[in-house]
Amino acid sequence: MLLNLSFFLLFLTASNITVQAIGVNWGTTSSHPLPPDKVVELLKSNKITKVKLFDADPLVLQALSGSNIGVTVGIIGVTVGIPNSMLKSLNSSKKVAESWVHDNVTRYVSSGNSGVRIEYVAVGDEPFQQSYGEQYHPFVIGAAMNIQTALARASLANQVKVVVPCSYDTFQSESSLPSKGHFRPDLNKTMTELLTFLTKHHSPFFATISPFIISHRNKNISLDFSLFKETKHSRNDGHRTYKNSFDLGYDTLVTALSTAGFPEMDVVVAKIGWPTDGAANATPSAAATFMKGLMDHLHSKSGTPLRPRNPPIETYVFSLLDEDQRSIVNGNFERHWGVFTFDGQAKYNVDFGQGSKNLVNAQYVEYLSSKWCVVNNNKDLSNATASALDACSTADCTALSPGGSCFNISWPANISYAFNNYYQLHDQRADSCDFGGLGLITTVDPSVGTCRFPVELRTSHSESLYGACLLQWMILLTINTILHDFL
Ligand SMILES: *[C@@H]1O[C@H](CO)[C@@H](O)[C@H](O)[C@H]1NC(C)=O
Ligand SMILES: *[C@@H]1O[C@H](CO)[C@@H](O)[C@H](O)[C@H]1NC(C)=O
Ligand SMILES: *[C@@H]1O[C@H](CO)[C@@H](O)[C@H](O)[C@H]1NC(C)=O
Ligand SMILES: *[C@@H]1O[C@H](CO)[C@@H](O)[C@H](O)[C@H]1NC(C)=O
Ligand SMILES: *[C@@H]1O[C@H](CO)[C@@H](O)[C@H](O)[C@H]1NC(C)=O
Ligand SMILES: *[C@@H]1O[C@H](CO)[C@@H](O)[C@H](O)[C@H]1NC(C)=O
Ligand SMILES: *[C@@H]1O[C@H](CO)[C@@H](O)[C@H](O)[C@H]1NC(C)=O
Repeated sequence: MLLNLSFFLLFLTASNITVQAIGVNWGTTSSHPLPPDKVVELLKSNKITKVKLFDADPLVLQALSGSNIGVTVGIIGVTVGIPNSMLKSLNSSKKVAESWVHDNVTRYVSSGNSGVRIEYVAVGDEPFQQSYGEQYHPFVIGAAMNIQTALARASLANQVKVVVPCSYDTFQSESSLPSKGHFRPDLNKTMTELLTFLTKHHSPFFATISPFIISHRNKNISLDFSLFKETKHSRNDGHRTYKNSFDLGYDTLVTALSTAGFPEMDVVVAKIGWPTDGAANATPSAAATFMKGLMDHLHSKSGTPLRPRNPPIETYVFSLLDEDQRSIVNGNFERHWGVFTFDGQAKYNVDFGQGSKNLVNAQYVEYLSSKWCVVNNNKDLSNATASALDACSTADCTALSPGGSCFNISWPANISYAFNNYYQLHDQRADSCDFGGLGLITTVDPSVGTCRFPVELRTSHSESLYGACLLQWMILLTINTILHDFL
């Protein structure tokens, strides 16, 4: 009886691995993050069984570790991340690497059947991004090696692989021809070390492919080419024809790998997506078209001109949710990559494996009261713009930027938008709607057209999470007791 059960579980696990090579990035750079148990529900109800994290937040991992109890979707494969700020100490000390692995990996893997299936440790968050300069280059490989050694000592090296996520700008090509692909010259030595390390441990290459940013920076690229639409503007590279920007970027990487002497390297697309606000062409309809094109392409398993019928081994959509505190040094669109809004509502439809059914939204989301902060039109507003700019230095005003969903709302509605986001950021505290007497609290939703004035989430996440954990422990205990009695 028990044997049958484990065969059944094995079968379930194996079939999940083969069908599901598409996952999502779950970032938490939000002022009011959706509680982890709500996010895990969202993943489960949309049959998303792989997630990539940017850290190893205990609350997130605890929520995930209960996720294979009592549901049919099954096991969630997880990538945990190491922030760039930790690379230096992980390079210089094997001890630090060992405690990192112990505290953030072993603990979750070894806690019996309910453990999370941690598949990868991502060393750094795109540490080679050009905007960081070379500050992390000297530490990345050493940190990766120390983590690898620590995993081996914990007897986890067979199940957990060490990877280094590489940004879209680590590889490039002259005149955008994939056949001219190579790694960025300043990375030459580091990249050879990384590729040698990955090969030795049978780990794949994690790379970001970003058709959006490439088209955002180079106006010469047609939108149709970026969005997988049949286009007259296909690119020829020798006898190969490129019909979309994804294949072009991917094959540029494939050439870079071959040129460096690693033509067989497996590739995981670690981040790919399309934002919906904060820039021209960043709209829900463009994002929907892009994601449909991407999913059709991946489901067809057709591969690319340089790797026909050999698609990326896994692909992680960027991102699951919007994050209102992400850095905007690369652009105002950075806070709008979510397939779902910050509160877990689908912006458009994506086929994660549920076919033609719509995505399921987050359920029972708890918001602050239905209150907004707006500018008081009866006051002298000559100084209001200065107050608004001040509010925007901490609050998220990216939707007001050119091409954004609130760009067209007129003055002083844009001032109200800034005031409200500041007020929500501060949990609707009355003194955060003061603005020298210019602010006014209202219960009438000031949203206009596609410009949504948000009400923030009520974030007492610890309570709900502990509640869920307690329930899961009780179920586990009960199952254990039953099995024990049965045997
Ligand atoms: C990385 O760690 C190694 C081993 O401790 C050390 O020799 C090296 O100097 C470190 N690299 C840097 C740039 O600090
Ligand atoms: C992981 O482990 C280290 C070392 O014990 C610890 O300092 C850190 O807070 C843990 N969590 C994350 C997210 O790195
Ligand atoms: C822009 O596209 C045209 C036509 O495809 C091409 O001739 C030109 O070299 C491109 N310019 C840049 C800067 O890529
Ligand atoms: C580094 O540069 C050499 C000489 O240009 C080249 O042969 C090699 O492929 C480069 N390595 C990488 C990883 O790009
Ligand atoms: C606007 O700001 C200036 C400088 O701080 C101040 O002197 C002036 O009284 C303000 N005007 C109003 C209407 O509050
Ligand atoms: C803003 O208004 C202009 C002119 O009325 C219109 O063409 C444009 O599409 C609008 N943009 C947005 C983002 O609504
Ligand atoms: C609001 O719109 C006015 C007029 O277009 C502009 O001068 C001001 O900078 C805008 N304020 C913000 C916070 O976007």
